[in-house]
Amino acid sequence: MATPNIIEIRDLQFTWPRQSAPCLDIPHLDIAAGERIFIHGPSGSGKSTLLGLLGGILVPQRGTISVLGAALERLPAAARDRFRSDHIGFVFQLFNLVPYLPVIENVVLPCRFSARRRSQAIKAGVSVRAEAVRLLLHLDIGAELLERPVTELSVGQQQRVAAARALLGRPEVVVADEPTSALDADRQAAFLRLLLQECSAAGATLLFVSHDRRLAGEFTREIALPSINAARTHETVA
Ligand SMILES: Nc1ncnc2c1ncn2[C@@H]1O[C@H](COP(=O)(O)OP(=O)(O)OP(=O)(O)O)[C@@H](O)[C@H]1O
Ligand SMILES: [Mg+2]
Repeated sequence: MATPNIIEIRDLQFTWPRQSAPCLDIPHLDIAAGERIFIHGPSGSGKSTLLGLLGGILVPQRGTISVLGAALERLPAAARDRFRSDHIGFVFQLFNLVPYLPVIENVVLPCRFSARRRSQAIKAGVSVRAEAVRLLLHLDIGAELLERPVTELSVGQQQRVAAARALLGRPEVVVADEPTSALDADRQAAFLRLLLQECSAAGATLLFVSHDRRLAGEFTREIALPSINAARTHETVA
């Protein structure tokens, strides 16, 4: 039996407010469950915008974007937020960690918003906290850092905290926007290995955005955003 698609995009158009031309115009994109997708493209080509649409943070003006069989553009805003908390782990380009909270509290945050993620975290690790600590240790964030405010961590450490938060409670889709850009080459490889390991242990589908095409070999498929985006075909590819 063919693997079912976990993500389906049809005739999607998205234009930012006050822009005359669409940023994204994607006629067709299917992603099968369990794929590990490497997305690249020049700065400003719409990679973060696409991830925002996949996470239901942005809504297209035209077309459909379906994740796990749910057409996100048809869900009311509150249901979209709930869907994201339940099913999608996001590592944002700028991390979006809560600065006044310690490391461990940042990581357990998704489980405060989603009963589904909470029960899955408990199933995987006895308690939410124990599973959060396991992920953090696996990502090389030691016990001595757990109670520190995230603002006292290095950028690379914050990146790994953001990854632990995205993975906690085993969301079906993990979306990572340039999560390795602040890491040196060794740390980058180690981070990627752990992220891939955790995603396959959880059976998660991974969408990973990076400028660094040297990482592409670790993935099952590489997508150059300009090659699927009918808007912006005039731009040169970096
Ligand atoms: N909040 C916003 N309001 C208006 N336009 C925006 C907004 N965010 C992004 N854009 C525009 O949308 C286009 C795509 O931006 P996006 O952030 O998706 O690019 P990107 O491929 O992620 O770039 P980078 O590699 O630099 O992160 C850009 O032209 C940008 O100016
Ligand atoms: Mg971006």
